[in-house]
Amino acid sequence: MEVANNKLLKGADLAAKLLMQVAKDAKDLKSKDVPLGIAFISIGEDPASKVYLTRKRKIAASIGIESIDCNFNENTSTEKLIYEIEELNKRKDVTGILVQLPIPKSIDSFKAINAIDPKKDVDGFTVENIGRLITKQKCLVPCTPQGCVALIKSVEQNISGAHAVIIGRSHIVGRPLSELLLQENCSVTVLHSRSKKPEEIARTADILISAVGEPKLVHEGWVKPGAIVIDVGITRAVDENGKKKLIGDVDFENVINKVKAITPVPGGVGPMTIAYLMKNTIDAAKLFI
Ligand code: GUN
Repeated sequence: MEVANNKLLKGADLAAKLLMQVAKDAKDLKSKDVPLGIAFISIGEDPASKVYLTRKRKIAASIGIESIDCNFNENTSTEKLIYEIEELNKRKDVTGILVQLPIPKSIDSFKAINAIDPKKDVDGFTVENIGRLITKQKCLVPCTPQGCVALIKSVEQNISGAHAVIIGRSHIVGRPLSELLLQENCSVTVLHSRSKKPEEIARTADILISAVGEPKLVHEGWVKPGAIVIDVGITRAVDENGKKKLIGDVDFENVINKVKAITPVPGGVGPMTIAYLMKNTIDAAKLFI
C-alpha cells in the first residue's frame, strides 16, 4: 500500500538528528576527560532483550559511549543483583546504569531498580527520578515518553489544550508520558484494561498514544480524523512465509487515511527511545562534573 509520506512520522530520522547533537556533546565531554559508560544489566536470556541491548550497545559505541555488559543467569537472587548494582554505583567509569526489562519474576524488580544511584538512572525509573519528574524538579526522564513527546512536537509545536489519550498505564511509558503531556498543558486521559468504552474515549483524542502490546487494538473506529497517532506497541510475530515481523498496536493501513501523522512499527518510537537513552547518559555524566 502506498503511504502518504508526509503523514509518516519516522522516528529514525528524528533520532538521527538528536544523536548528532548527542555525539557532539559526548566528544566535548571526552575532551574534558569526563568518562561516559553505560552498564547494561540483563538477567536470563530473553531474545527480545538481547536484540534491544545489541542495538543500544551499537549506538552507544557509534557516539563514543562505553558499554559495560553485565548479564546474570536467571537464578540470580535480588540480593546478589543489588550488590552488583551497588558496585557499579561506585565506579567512576560507569555514568549510566540500566536494568533491561523484563526480568524474572523471582527478582524484586522494584528493589533492584531502586538500588541504582538516581544520578546514574539513565532509564529514569527510580522512585527518586519519578518523584522529581512529577514535582517538576531536574531529573532523568524515562526515554520512551521523551521520544513520544518529541515526535508529537515535530508535527505540532504547540499542543497546549489538546486532548491526549494514552492507552496503557505502565510505569515505563503510560504514567510518565501522562506527566510529560500535562507539562505541555494537554488534557490527558489514560485508558487501561478496565476502562469503559475505550473506543469512544479514544475517538475524542487529538493525540492518541497506544502502549499496550496488543496487535491492531487501535482500529479506524478509535481514531478521530486529523489525530496524531503514536504507536509504542511492539509484538513479535511470524508472517505467512515464516518470516519474523513486528506488529504495532495500531491497525496502521486502515488508520493512515484518517490521521494527521502516524508512527510506523518498526522505525517509529523505537529509535527515539535509544536516542533519548544516549541523551540521558550525557546528562547523567554532566551530574558528576
Ligand atoms: N524494556 C522495554 N522497554 C525498556 C526500556 O525503556 N528500558 C529498559 N531498561 N527496559 C525496557
